[in-house]
Amino acid sequence: MILVIYAHPYPKHSRAGRALLAAVDGLPGVEVRSLYDLYPDFDIDTASEQAALLRAETIVWLHPIYWYSPPSLLKHWFENVLARGWAYSEGGDALKGKRCLWVPTTGGDEAAYTPNGIHEQPFENFIAPIEQTARFCGMQWLPPIIVHGAHVVSDEQLQAKAEEFRARLIAIGRSATQ
Ligand SMILES: Cc1cc2nc3c(=O)[nH]c(=O)nc-3n(C[C@H](O)[C@H](O)[C@H](O)COP(=O)(O)O)c2cc1C
Repeated sequence: MILVIYAHPYPKHSRAGRALLAAVDGLPGVEVRSLYDLYPDFDIDTASEQAALLRAETIVWLHPIYWYSPPSLLKHWFENVLARGWAYSEGGDALKGKRCLWVPTTGGDEAAYTPNGIHEQPFENFIAPIEQTARFCGMQWLPPIIVHGAHVVSDEQLQAKAEEFRARLIAIGRSATQ
């Protein structure tokens, strides 16, 4: 099972996240949990989240980038669900060996993440905390799918990213059953 943890504060107003999600929604073996729909008051059901993670072989984190980080509910989810003795530390091997695919969307386009762009630094500089979160829990970090310029990419470019996401999940699903 591939579990997509979708963290968008305004799912109905999303352009990029909605296109990506639409491309994989309904794929066999794919379960989507939209955190802001499930927990609008931030009261995360840790047991349900952990049970969903245990069912999954691959975990996808799909979200917009807010202040170079995941939105606050996903951060809150990390803090509660990836618990000591469950996800890391002694006895904390629940996620060990599972694959992790990160799918962030950014407002900044590729030029924005260059020395002369508004974000000044390459986007790669902001990957480490999330990658290491996955690795700290023993997960296998897959090459991420990064969607830059979420508001400015053409419909065709966005659709191509969505198709890439769909193809990756299908390939992951196939490799898991072989
Ligand atoms: C509070 C806030 C913070 C943001 N911070 C960043 C940022 O640090 N870097 C960036 O490239 N875009 C930033 N953005 C833009 C979002 O990443 C962008 O709107 C989102 O990826 C678009 O996805 P959507 O079409 O699914 O809403 C921010 C947007 C908001 C509302």
